[in-house]
Amino acid sequence: MTKLSAKNILIGISGGIAAYKSAELVRLFIKSGANVRVCMTPGAREFITPLTLQALSGNPVHTALLDPEAEAGMGHIELARWADLIVIAPATADLMARLRIGMADDLLSTLVLATAAPVHIAPAMNQQMWAHPATQENVNILKQRHHIHGPAAGEQACGDVGYGRMLEPQQIVDAVSATLELTHTPRPKTLAGHRLLITAGPTREPLDPVRYLTNRSSGKMGYAIAEAAASMGAEVVLVSGPTQLDTPEGVRRINIETAAEMLEAVTSEVPGTSIFIAAAAVADYRLKEVATKKMKKQGSALHLELEQNPDILAKTSLGNPDLFTVGFAAETDDVIHYASGKLKRKQLDMIVANQVGNGKGFDKDSNQVDILTAAGGHFTLPEASKTQLAFEILDIINTVYQQGQVRLT
Ligand code: CTP
Repeated sequence: MTKLSAKNILIGISGGIAAYKSAELVRLFIKSGANVRVCMTPGAREFITPLTLQALSGNPVHTALLDPEAEAGMGHIELARWADLIVIAPATADLMARLRIGMADDLLSTLVLATAAPVHIAPAMNQQMWAHPATQENVNILKQRHHIHGPAAGEQACGDVGYGRMLEPQQIVDAVSATLELTHTPRPKTLAGHRLLITAGPTREPLDPVRYLTNRSSGKMGYAIAEAAASMGAEVVLVSGPTQLDTPEGVRRINIETAAEMLEAVTSEVPGTSIFIAAAAVADYRLKEVATKKMKKQGSALHLELEQNPDILAKTSLGNPDLFTVGFAAETDDVIHYASGKLKRKQLDMIVANQVGNGKGFDKDSNQVDILTAAGGHFTLPEASKTQLAFEILDIINTVYQQGQVRLT
């Protein structure tokens, strides 16, 4: 795992000779585990073909703002929401001038305006153009909004010597990695003073010492919420089933395997908790009697007797009426209908509903959700990276939670 694993990175390329190095940049980001999409300005296409970048990134390249076909696939707002971060390399003097004044006259400049994700810029230009007071003024303003990496000094394509060379692709990847933070624009600490208890990932229900029942949950949504909550100032406890994910910074993680262990951990962590978010995909059933020795093949069919696991969310919600509880509902059909049934049945304050199956939901890096509240509220959040959604879900949770607090006092 690297810090860039599973991050959605949008690489913007503008029209400079260094654009040929962007192919290597795409390759390195892919190698580090990121999902990469590429946006090219018309000028960039004079230096490198979209086909090369499509082949390297494994995704269609985005080139035009007003292309009905592209907008029907992944439109510019969706693309801006998909990105966890934008890396522009090379950034020409012209592009930086346009970004400085907030122009939206091509797809790349529009995406920079339309995203909440951090933007990293690797300038590349002739040394005289870099040294020009106009460029320097633009850079100084852009530094207040974005991360600027380089340029380096050295011999240039035009024969000049001085500052203006784009950093090498590996240096850009290292610089982006080093400054990687989940916080989009700096987040106000709106959850300071609150303790959030979050469940995430799958559970594993053993059959015998070597086999178990589980599901396809990656834990990404729960971990993204934990990470976002910590960056919003909350004290965060994450009760997690087995996942491949690193513990987010500032989060206390308790590892469990079975639903019974998850219930035990949650129950002991509830005192002092303000908000409980159940994002785990808990196995509904476990084996009635777990074999103590490895089961041997017996005939052509095997019958297992399963018994129901406790419903951790329902138990916690019903046993702690003052606790603000949020559930998740992953459904293949009739999403709102089933989600609202679970909201009522489990007496939740809120439920986050999403569609799964058909390539949606589980083990993906983006998602689309609907949020229903006990008071009858309904919010629809359009498709976005799980990181972006985590902040939006927490903002809604916090607003509804604070309203409840005001009513109570
Ligand atoms: N949940 C839980 N403990 C369980 C089952 C579910 O805490 N044993 C929580 C999940 O973390 C999620 C919510 O309940 O927040 C919805 O889970 P889901 O499995 O979709 O709902 P169920 O009530 O189990 O209904 P069904 O499986 O029939 O859809």
